[in-house]
Amino acid sequence: MPYYRSVGSVPAKRHTQFRRDDGSLHAEELMGADGFSAESALLYHLHPPTALVSAEVVPGPADSLATAEPLLPRHFRTHSLAVGGDLVTGRRLLAGNGDVRISYAAAAGDSPLFRDAVGDQLVFLESGEAVLESVFGVLPVRAGDYVVVPAGVTHRWTTVGCRALVVEAVGSHVTPPDRYLSPRGQLLEGAPYCERDLRGPTEPLLVPDGPAEVLVRRRSGTGTSLTRYGYAHHPFDVVGWDGCLYPWALSVHDLQPLAGAVHQPPPIHQTFAGKGFVVCTFVPRVVDWHPDAVPAPYNHSNVGSDEVLFYVDGSFASRTGSGIGVGSISLHPAGFVHGPQPGAVERSLGVPRVDELAVMVDTFAPLQLAPAAAECEDEAYAWSWARG
Ligand SMILES: [Fe+2]
Repeated sequence: MPYYRSVGSVPAKRHTQFRRDDGSLHAEELMGADGFSAESALLYHLHPPTALVSAEVVPGPADSLATAEPLLPRHFRTHSLAVGGDLVTGRRLLAGNGDVRISYAAAAGDSPLFRDAVGDQLVFLESGEAVLESVFGVLPVRAGDYVVVPAGVTHRWTTVGCRALVVEAVGSHVTPPDRYLSPRGQLLEGAPYCERDLRGPTEPLLVPDGPAEVLVRRRSGTGTSLTRYGYAHHPFDVVGWDGCLYPWALSVHDLQPLAGAVHQPPPIHQTFAGKGFVVCTFVPRVVDWHPDAVPAPYNHSNVGSDEVLFYVDGSFASRTGSGIGVGSISLHPAGFVHGPQPGAVERSLGVPRVDELAVMVDTFAPLQLAPAAAECEDEAYAWSWARG
């Protein structure tokens, strides 16, 4: 997020001597996006963050992607996937392409230390609570929070139970849409959220020193691979940091949705952008006030876009009768024309507001599916528009 924060102790001038109580120097680390060409942070460790003592390949989960044939709209019931694991290793990849990977996790425990070199991660907490511990400090999160974890941030998740949709950028960053930002990065009037809504770590996180293992993920061919690093010192030894690169959270309950006299298209609900994909949020809101408005969405053809919709809470009036419910994910691929279920247009007339809460990921390259998608697919969905 391109605005400045400072947490804990940092020296008055960057790249100058910053000594510990015993007279030794802190170890300064620059964490920079896109090399040295974008946002960065300077972190001050008690110990060098470079003291690697071991490295081993870790067999990863089956995350093969394949084109699903025939071309069909699809419905996945995430709540029928098994509960267990953690928010890192317990992710079940559902769909992906060369730009983004979409996973679901029903986590029931703490994760190992993890660092993702593939891209920024966007974790949306559907339910429960969790704490993101990182070299930047502690960030408590709860149901309805989006959490952006920049690539390269060493972190771990603690939770006693939560459900989450995880959107992983492949080689890119998750940011507010450019059109929400001033030329120098301030969120503009007219954006559905502002800096006051963004939460970041507020205090350093220091744990007792000792050896630590960190799981590191990187791109490998068209997939990813995992390496387990052993370090001489625990990475959570940062006494202070400052800069414009850090994990941050935004609650969907803090969004101020935009509305119009007639039905507004999804880009008005956009929350984040990544390379080759966007993320939109549909929150409870007043809808169309034109006296003859049709609040239900019009039929539409997503030319050049695959549309993934994760149904989080409330009622989804345009999908009544389709089998869609809380925890459902629909995938409406490019080439398929979709719209409200039978009867939904008539039922929407005169409705003053909707209470839906849903997260949408639109990709601009076709999505392929992973084995976990088939595990929870409702194969009747494609024919639900003809059942009315
Ligand atoms: Fe759609």
